[in-house]
Amino acid sequence: MQRDAPVPYGLIEDAAIAVEGDRIAWIGRRQDLPKNVEANCNRHHDARGALVTPGLIDCHTHLVYGGDRAHEFELRLGGASYEDIARAGGGIASTVKATRAASEAELLAQSLPRLRALMGEGVTTIEIKSGYGLSLEHEAKTLRVARTLAEQEPVDVRTTFLGAHALPPEFAGRADDYIDEVLAMLPALHEQGLVDAVDAFCERIAFSTAQTERVFEAARKLGLPVKLHAEQLSDSGGAQLAARYGALSCDHLEWLGEEGAAAMARAGSVAVLLPGAFYFLRDTRVPPITMLREHGVPMAVSTDCNPGSSPCTSLLLMLNMACTLFRLTPQEALAGATRNAAQALGLKDRGVLSPGLRADFVLWDVEQPAQLSYAMGSNPRRQTVHGGRPA
Ligand code: NIG
Ligand code: FE
Repeated sequence: MQRDAPVPYGLIEDAAIAVEGDRIAWIGRRQDLPKNVEANCNRHHDARGALVTPGLIDCHTHLVYGGDRAHEFELRLGGASYEDIARAGGGIASTVKATRAASEAELLAQSLPRLRALMGEGVTTIEIKSGYGLSLEHEAKTLRVARTLAEQEPVDVRTTFLGAHALPPEFAGRADDYIDEVLAMLPALHEQGLVDAVDAFCERIAFSTAQTERVFEAARKLGLPVKLHAEQLSDSGGAQLAARYGALSCDHLEWLGEEGAAAMARAGSVAVLLPGAFYFLRDTRVPPITMLREHGVPMAVSTDCNPGSSPCTSLLLMLNMACTLFRLTPQEALAGATRNAAQALGLKDRGVLSPGLRADFVLWDVEQPAQLSYAMGSNPRRQTVHGGRPA
């Protein structure tokens, strides 16, 4: 796919890609390949009819966590709601307990298979949030594990500090005091090079807009971009607030209203759609896709990989669900896991196949791009190239 291409998906029939180092040097129709590019090429690969897309980008995950929440899944099937469980001290708090109890090595071992599953479907860049540590020690541990994953595997990891995810038990009834703590954690983690962006959960079971704004102010002072879990369970005005801070993205958005969508459009914030959470929580309120389209808000699609609302390690399945549940077109879904996902992470060097951008791409054994979101549970990936190298 190429930016602003007039044909669907920007598809180029019988294409060639020249790679130099970790970058794309040239891309176009094979017959147009410049003679000097071809002459300087010391290795040729025949893609044998594969469809080539940019490396997939999973732009919203909570991949590093301890334990699981299968028991709460049973409780929910018995009638308890996600909010009931959270209010009774379960939900995010139970994962916080398991994450704090895990050593760094254990956390790494538990997270690695999830990462590998995503990479097995062509993910070359992934965002990983903290938010199950909720103290300096355990948030730092989580973010270090995220960084270590990128050292061990051929994948790029962007880390997001989500200290304002839930109230840890030791701060029960003292949410404002906990936000003070978050504001103290942020510069310390940033100093250790562990933070690429800052996120918060703005919701009636989490933090208010006023509390979220304090976190955003602190991020702004450090020059860090912000993102927000917004309007997932109610319309709390989070999207407008995030837009005022030039948020890279607002995520979930089932309850997003017209003003929020307009504010996002003005700010250039991406709408990150998370059909896995919608499905797993048996939600019935679909994010306002038509409204987002009308306002020209770019849409991304992500797994939200986490133990409570989306225990999912398949971005391809999310493309399918974005189409079936949210009525995205397969072309929008694919852009949501490539071009718009890159934008949601503030990354300008990937997400499309263009000269000068990273040579992150996937060879798929499919005839047409719609097959990537059409099939459920199949994986047509033949080969991933990450930074110009087979991965
Ligand atoms: O993106 N909404 C808040 N955070 C996660 C869920 C966290 C959990 O339940 O463990 C989400 O859905
Ligand atoms: Fe999330």
